[in-house]
Amino acid sequence: MLINNWYVACASSDIATDKPTRVQMLGCHFVLFRDAAGAVSCLADTCVHRGAALGDGELVEHTVACPYHGWRFGADGRCTLIPALGPGVVPPKRARVDRYPTQEKYGWVWTFLGDLPESQRPAIPDLFPEFDDTVHWRRMPYQFEANANWMRFEENSLDTAHTNFVHRQFGAKRTPKLEPYPIELTEWGARVAREKPAPQQDQKSGEMARLLAESGPRRSTQVSLEFSLVGLCHRIQPTFREGMSQISFTARTPIDPWRSRAIGWQARNYLLEPEHDAERMAAIQLAVEEDLRVLEKVEPKLTPRSPTQEFLTETDGMEVAFRKVVARSAAAGNEIDIDRFEQLRRRQVLVIPSPGRREEPGNWVHDTVPLCGKA
Ligand code: FES
Ligand SMILES: [Fe+2]
Repeated sequence: MLINNWYVACASSDIATDKPTRVQMLGCHFVLFRDAAGAVSCLADTCVHRGAALGDGELVEHTVACPYHGWRFGADGRCTLIPALGPGVVPPKRARVDRYPTQEKYGWVWTFLGDLPESQRPAIPDLFPEFDDTVHWRRMPYQFEANANWMRFEENSLDTAHTNFVHRQFGAKRTPKLEPYPIELTEWGARVAREKPAPQQDQKSGEMARLLAESGPRRSTQVSLEFSLVGLCHRIQPTFREGMSQISFTARTPIDPWRSRAIGWQARNYLLEPEHDAERMAAIQLAVEEDLRVLEKVEPKLTPRSPTQEFLTETDGMEVAFRKVVARSAAAGNEIDIDRFEQLRRRQVLVIPSPGRREEPGNWVHDTVPLCGKA
């Protein structure tokens, strides 16, 4: 798992106004709530007093009040009140929790989990510009979890060959051969545009099958695919025929080393009426089930460090591109040492370092997660 990256914590609409929201990412817990100006604040969840979960507390005047002894923490992470000491006592500076940068985009709350100053943080990618075009695109939200490591999970989405075997609706077992298409590397990811044989008519069902049948037999589907390590997100866009296309924009968040969350939008420029949502949603659900049935049993649970421990071929190009960009970030010192983390955390709270630690290195109650290659 990598620090110093943007991760989607939840949908903006998941942030309740009357209570804090508790979210797990990178094996750590976080508490989210809106400050007086309406901006989302994301703090480390574990109270520095004696370790209770702030996310289970209450919101009091735009502070979060710990459920154990009522200490209050403001949107900046500083303790504003220690009730047992009385209202006249100003809490010491050390009574603070880490605070992480946040941004709302595409209807989601993105959190920067790391300590890079603002000038060094990469921008959340603009992979879904159609988000605001609700005239031509009908979009539906989805979320699901997988018992799979975040790398294994993302590799599954970037993998083109599997669709022919795992997905009945859009795969085509009879034409499994993949033509080579050039993969274009981007600053934080890669993109590819392919043309593949169209599935047979009877593989599609419902309204979509009817629409496609209207325009006569078609030979191919164009599929474009792009991922970005920043935000851990990707966009997949099949175009079935001219003017009939759909976009799946999905962000992944590691819950811990073994579990991942996906949040996404599927947008379509056909069947724009809301009554078609249920059928489209069922198709997404089916595809997710088909993927997870295979993915959750893939071994080893963590992607091997060496490509020689699997038998990769040239059709695994996007997965290889993904592994390379992950390795680059790991080499820059961003990889959490999950073995040490799992051992140490039994008796120690470990948090993701926040930018505040670079500004003021000393005087923090909790240590930060161990990183690979660092003592
Ligand atoms: S553990 Fe949070 S106030 Fe005591
Ligand atoms: Fe799949």
